[in-house]
Amino acid sequence: MDELKRITETSKYIEEDKTENSLRPQSFNDFIGQKKLKRNLKIFIEASKKRHETLDHCLFYAPPGLGKTTLSHIIAKEMGCNLRITSGPVLEKIGDLAAILTNLSEGEIFFIDEIHRMNHLVEESLYPVMEDFELDIIIGQGPSAKTIKLPVPRFTLVGATTRAGLLSSPLRDRFGIIEHLAFYDVKELIQIANRSAMIMNISIDEKASEEIARRSRGTPRIVNRLLKRVRDFAEIKDGKITYTTAKEALNALEVDSAGLDKIDRLILTVIIEKFNGGPVGIDTIASAISEESDTIADIYEPYLIKSGFIARTPRGRVVTEIGYKHIGKVKQVNKY
Ligand SMILES: Nc1ncnc2c1ncn2[C@@H]1O[C@H](COP(=O)(O)OP(=O)(O)O)[C@@H](O)[C@H]1O
Ligand SMILES: [Mg+2]
Repeated sequence: MDELKRITETSKYIEEDKTENSLRPQSFNDFIGQKKLKRNLKIFIEASKKRHETLDHCLFYAPPGLGKTTLSHIIAKEMGCNLRITSGPVLEKIGDLAAILTNLSEGEIFFIDEIHRMNHLVEESLYPVMEDFELDIIIGQGPSAKTIKLPVPRFTLVGATTRAGLLSSPLRDRFGIIEHLAFYDVKELIQIANRSAMIMNISIDEKASEEIARRSRGTPRIVNRLLKRVRDFAEIKDGKITYTTAKEALNALEVDSAGLDKIDRLILTVIIEKFNGGPVGIDTIASAISEESDTIADIYEPYLIKSGFIARTPRGRVVTEIGYKHIGKVKQVNKY
């Protein structure tokens, strides 16, 4: 898609990194919501510190923008150790992995984002590392090739992925801690909006944060992004984020009352108009709107399903009654 970036797009924009870091919670106290996950993690961290051991390898899976990277920072801080960050697609060769591993120090947290996108040779070489902290390196070629075992300092691998199903089971099985992050509810998103507004040093009224929260598709990153855009509108007025300004800004950004943007609505409309509401396969939907299937599955679909606009059936996706209503259409029933 060569359109402008979507305002509700959850994968992060590169230039946004700096503010993203300033808004990123630094401790479990600042990390809003995900109560059960936080409670578990705190216990695991506490216990491993007591035993003077490294934390088990952790895998976080969730749609983009829900806090996976943030959690890896918090874990490193709580464990009192360094954080090394890379991502699956960057680790092209075993050598890339070896270069990082041999430079780790004992106890460090090694974060691999988009771990499902790792080259499979690199992935396989990670298995003995995760289990025995040994990296097998093959030296030479053909019959004279030799495998040497390179010891690696004990560390904690933290992996992040958008869908657990994308991970091969041998890799998944090597994580001791596997946690799913759920979409946030409106109350939590309001807290996030208020916290971010405070850091950004701008005043926001209660109804305005609620409006932003409602339209953020359960995602903290979108709360922050919408807040920044709404702030722009507020700053050319009286410098305060009021309900009216928030609503005006969000409407101008074409984010609707349920947080859906143009593409979300296009997906619903296409399923309704071209496929009579479904069932239709995700690849077919993808080609009908010229988008990649993975993008739909990672970014759009989880929220559309979560909010009950579409449902997943064995034969494909269907638009639900609420979905029809939201788009303002009526289902045509085939009488024959
Ligand atoms: N639980 C949370 N409480 C407050 N802010 C959060 C929370 N989770 C995420 N955020 C905000 O959303 C942004 C995106 O989170 P991030 O951890 O980068 O998401 P992910 O890695 O899952 O894509 C962070 O910079 C942070 O400001
Ligand atoms: Mg991330």
